[in-house]
Amino acid sequence: MTGGTDPSAGVTRAAVILPWEKHGAEQPRAAEARLAEAVGLTASIGLVVVHTAILPLRARRPSTLLGDGQVEAQGRAIADERIDVVVVDAALTPVQQRNLERAWDCKVIDRTGLILDIFGERAVTREGTLQVELAHLEYQRSRLVRSWTHLERQRGGFGFLGGPGETQIEADRRLIDERLVRLKKDLEQVRRTRGLHRSARKRVPFPVIALVGYTNAGKSTLFNALTGAEVMAKDQLFATLDPTMRGLRLPSGRRVILSDTVGFISELPHELVEAFRATLEEVAEADVILHVRDIAHPETAAQRSDVMTVLGDMVTDGTLDPDWPDRTIEVLNKADLLGGVRDVPSRSGCVAVSAMTGEGLEALKAAIDVRIAAGMDVLDYDIPPADGARLAWLYEHGEVIERADEDSVVHMKVRLLPADRARFERR
Ligand code: GTP
Repeated sequence: MTGGTDPSAGVTRAAVILPWEKHGAEQPRAAEARLAEAVGLTASIGLVVVHTAILPLRARRPSTLLGDGQVEAQGRAIADERIDVVVVDAALTPVQQRNLERAWDCKVIDRTGLILDIFGERAVTREGTLQVELAHLEYQRSRLVRSWTHLERQRGGFGFLGGPGETQIEADRRLIDERLVRLKKDLEQVRRTRGLHRSARKRVPFPVIALVGYTNAGKSTLFNALTGAEVMAKDQLFATLDPTMRGLRLPSGRRVILSDTVGFISELPHELVEAFRATLEEVAEADVILHVRDIAHPETAAQRSDVMTVLGDMVTDGTLDPDWPDRTIEVLNKADLLGGVRDVPSRSGCVAVSAMTGEGLEALKAAIDVRIAAGMDVLDYDIPPADGARLAWLYEHGEVIERADEDSVVHMKVRLLPADRARFERR
């Protein structure tokens, strides 16, 4: 990295530049909101943002994306501010990235590169780490191909890495390909094991509540407020790439497991969608989905529809049951910023809260209770009195509503989660 790292503090100084194409009505997000998100993402990997710019794009120039005048003007600001890294919040081609690095004499990363860095820092589990490495390699591989084709450096006949005459680019690609094959195998293995872990957890007789929502909506804060845990809750985006779980007791006395997931972001680069799989699958398995929203955010409606679209896509590809809206509660968070819970317009299926002040959390827990009970089936079973094991199972896993004992049979009316019902009837 060239350019001036601040010697006093040892910080990495960054600029965030948003090339902005006006699309009229089809682009619901204001440029400022988009820039604010990019600044937040940049800060979340420890870079200090000292310069930002929104640059109107008149034409996408193949060489630099931006116009000559824009490149020059930014170059002066970058030099004046002694900037080390420029984040361009767009998809840059490898050629554009390299040309901008030359023009500005500093490191340039684009949106995909930035998010990959964030994922790399946040990935905790083995699967998360592997998925991030996979996405990173695929990203690099595409850079390699496209940026080097016009160079095609010939290595001559020595061929340490490949056969005689193999070009550098071919050798590099082959190494990456080999690594990719290995990674995919490892991932398969990890996924199989995770499947086992999950079915083990499913045997725990607790409903699972999954938190989903936009990045910075307050999922971690809510998770902590509900469970009394003191972890996470930093003002950092993506504090939770991997699912975190914790137990919680509802007002009814019912125990549930709360599961936090990674936050959504606008226009997630398609290379990174796979890296979300672990958390998305948690959502699919959940008995109740809490969709946490930052109700005070200027783009709250667009964020909501982003989340709904992704969950809808999961129905299309078969990962999520089509009845997921029935299992979802919209949590309208940050009500304190609008004056309190009573000042948030309410709709059915929504609960206004402030994870920060705690207001509305009891109502939310009660709503979860109601939602779980609504998802349970009320069933009648006749069981021989001698079958103590099956009777005990029903008491342990369900809510027994009625019991009538006769000489040869016990009539049981019991409320069971659909998964427990299936398990009971298999016995
Ligand atoms: P990701 O992990 O990036 O997906 O974010 P998250 O959804 O887990 O958000 P997090 O809980 O980290 O909160 C983001 C920011 O919002 C933090 O600065 C919180 O302090 C703040 N915040 C969360 N809940 C509330 C709230 O009810 N009111 C206010 N005013 N701020 C809140």
